[in-house]
Amino acid sequence: TDASQPRHFLEIDDLSHEELLTVLVRAAEFKRAQQEGTAHEALSGQTLGMIFQKPSTRTRVSFETGMTQLGGHAVFLGEDDIQLGRGEPLKDTSRTLSRYVDAVMARVFRHENIEVLAEHSSVPIINGLTDDAHPCQTLADLLTIREEMGGFENVSVAWVGDGNNVGQSFVIGAAMTDMDVTVATPPGYSMDDAVIDRARELGGDPTVTHDPVEAVTDADIIYTDVWISMGQEDERDVRMDAFEGFQVCSDLLAHAPDASVMHCLPAHRGEEITDEAIESDQSIVFDQAENRLHAQKALLHWLLE
Ligand code: CP
Ligand code: NVA
Repeated sequence: TDASQPRHFLEIDDLSHEELLTVLVRAAEFKRAQQEGTAHEALSGQTLGMIFQKPSTRTRVSFETGMTQLGGHAVFLGEDDIQLGRGEPLKDTSRTLSRYVDAVMARVFRHENIEVLAEHSSVPIINGLTDDAHPCQTLADLLTIREEMGGFENVSVAWVGDGNNVGQSFVIGAAMTDMDVTVATPPGYSMDDAVIDRARELGGDPTVTHDPVEAVTDADIIYTDVWISMGQEDERDVRMDAFEGFQVCSDLLAHAPDASVMHCLPAHRGEEITDEAIESDQSIVFDQAENRLHAQKALLHWLLE
């Protein structure tokens, strides 16, 4: 590869183990500086382009606010607001944006499409969610667990529900931080073998099961996400049947009364998680949501400064 090629952030292991820890430490520093009012505008004059092919609350607002807080600017590019929606090729979009902005964050359907953007970009491309991965979420998740547990050593996490984009990036990130992970999905909704293999290559040893009770017993953290991700709306009926028994609810939490409950949000209360669970003292979902801001500021700073 060309030495002048920018660094991209398409999956959590695009950072080395050391780089990941650097970004997490910087995220904690940015968070403290923001709370103490001592933040500085490290990215003054820089612009982030933000392509969205799917809706977003957290990703959009945390990236835009993060750039503002760092003294820079963000441009929202909804698919239908730019020529991409009328068929301009992604590679042309990428090459054009590269001539204007300092980095591009993109939320797309097929993971291959974020790779196309990266291949044709002379500025860093950041994955803001694909069908397969959500590494920005993982950064915030790791920051949240580090705060909650004081570190990663001997921390055990149960992923319960769909083996989806959020879960897949998390399992890789958990391997990089030496956490113990058990993944409980219904048959047919497991994570990709390549993800489990990658976690093992990185020194992890995820346990894979179809039993949510087994997964949560002795877990410090229970993490779930929606059963029907964006783009899967047609599979609703089949999925609702398949995921029966995988709801994070008081019955399941009775097996792990001291565990913290995580969810990347948006939540569908009454499906993958109950209202009671999300409102309980065990829930840390809004700390997690807040940490998107701090983690991504650290990522932007690391990529752009
Ligand atoms: N967790 C997350 O990425 O949320 P949004 O879809 O609101 O961005
Ligand atoms: N798995 C969800 C995550 C949303 C942030 C989805 O892809 O819709």
